[in-house]
Amino acid sequence: MIRLKDMSPDNPFQDPLRFERKMPECAVVIFGANGDLTKRKLMPALYRLALERRLAPGFAVLGISRTPMSNDQFRDKMRESVQRYQENSEFDATVWDSFAKSIFYMGGDVGDPACYTTLATCLAAIERERQTGGNVLFYLSTQPSQYAETALGIGSAGLAKGAGWRRLVVEKPFGHDLESAKKLSDDLHQVFHESEVYRIDHYLGKETVQNILAFRFGNGIFEPLWNRRYVNHVQITAAESIGVEGRGAYYQEAGALRDMIQNHLLQVMATIAMEPSATFQPGSVRDERAKLLRSIRVMKPAEVLCNSVSGQYGPARIGGQDLPGFREEKGVDPGSQTDTYAAATFFVENWRWAGVPFYVRSGKHLPKRVSEIAIEFNAAPHTVFDTDGSGASINILILRIQPEEGISLKFLSKRPGAGMMLRPVSMDFNYGSSFGERSPSAYETLLLDAIVGDATLYTRQDMVEASWAAVEPIQQVWAEHKFEFPNYPAGTWGPAASEEMLARRGHSWRKP
Ligand code: BG6
Repeated sequence: MIRLKDMSPDNPFQDPLRFERKMPECAVVIFGANGDLTKRKLMPALYRLALERRLAPGFAVLGISRTPMSNDQFRDKMRESVQRYQENSEFDATVWDSFAKSIFYMGGDVGDPACYTTLATCLAAIERERQTGGNVLFYLSTQPSQYAETALGIGSAGLAKGAGWRRLVVEKPFGHDLESAKKLSDDLHQVFHESEVYRIDHYLGKETVQNILAFRFGNGIFEPLWNRRYVNHVQITAAESIGVEGRGAYYQEAGALRDMIQNHLLQVMATIAMEPSATFQPGSVRDERAKLLRSIRVMKPAEVLCNSVSGQYGPARIGGQDLPGFREEKGVDPGSQTDTYAAATFFVENWRWAGVPFYVRSGKHLPKRVSEIAIEFNAAPHTVFDTDGSGASINILILRIQPEEGISLKFLSKRPGAGMMLRPVSMDFNYGSSFGERSPSAYETLLLDAIVGDATLYTRQDMVEASWAAVEPIQQVWAEHKFEFPNYPAGTWGPAASEEMLARRGHSWRKP
């Protein structure tokens, strides 16, 4: 097995391949413990870590939300959620029973100062009972509007400092525009130093997104091609087949640009386009990602409608089932101008990428769930072979993020038989068949990283602000514009304008 350099005994990331790291004891305090994220992602991830014996013996989880519940009631609820939402693993009742002893609950309103006094008492008791060593990971999974007051509450109760380390994990969204993102960071910094703030972007925790770094910088053959001389354009897609699934009220305020592009897809783009970092230390990797995000050309208002597309799904009948349009979803305003589809063309202003379009799109109720990055290389400058004559790029490298995790390279090959007829073929790598083992979920990876103090895969204040700066002109122009919505039926690849955006540069979207 090949390991990375920088593995001195003092290096907390003794093994960046994430084996054999010594797990410190700690208490994880989840604010918003009765919410969807805790049920669907956090608890199944923590259970899985327990199953794999990745947690220290001195470990505890304390859930907090407004609903009054006993420890046992909360444990029962979490057991149900883990059974329902864990992926690719059997439920082991013996492991659960032992893990459940580390789960605690307290009812409390984060807006009420008394909540933090009770929290201090609970934490002290848990620390004694479970030997958590005074280390605490606070996890904000409440309504985003409560992030600042919760951090300030932790601070005023004196809980941001203690016998061990204290860290704060913050779920997205980090603000709703550049200004509010700055304000949120200012508020958090009243209590926590930036190095203690872990802004989670679960796309960065996906194995396939981490693998982009291994692919680019672990191999010598791709990097020489990874630039404007050889790359024609890049397409980044995150398509979802589901609609807003009962999250209409949240989604109406967010929209696809804010929900997916500003964070997940721009982070993916940064990972694809960043320069190699000098080391695999969190500082270096994050510096390179940040630098790339700052190099994204900020559109002028007059360019926005040419270089971005907003869409909203309308009703459709699919597989004999009637699907409502977005405006008919629960909690959504019937005249809503929210984008359930967003696409944009970005350019990176540096020597490596000048002039190369990065097309980014994401949408709900598209024909299938698929996230991928397609890097289309320039066509051969001259061909003597009988191809379709379109001059279109044949060489495409596809990094499949999900669900069929893998990498494919498309190229031309001679068709067997007489004559020299060529046909595109594909060379494929598949995670499943190559490794034959389960990949950890993004939340397992990211929770472990936060516990061990490795911020490589977390976003930093400057990265968040740079990505808001890149989408801000789009947000502003869209807010002033009246779109004719709905403009795509559920179950299709988005509005026609999106195809037109690429056609203006002679390109077209892949249908993955
Ligand atoms: C979340 C968005 O951040 O990512 C959701 O808020 C979206 O709207 C989800 O469905 C997609 O994540 P994944 O891992 O399923 O691609």
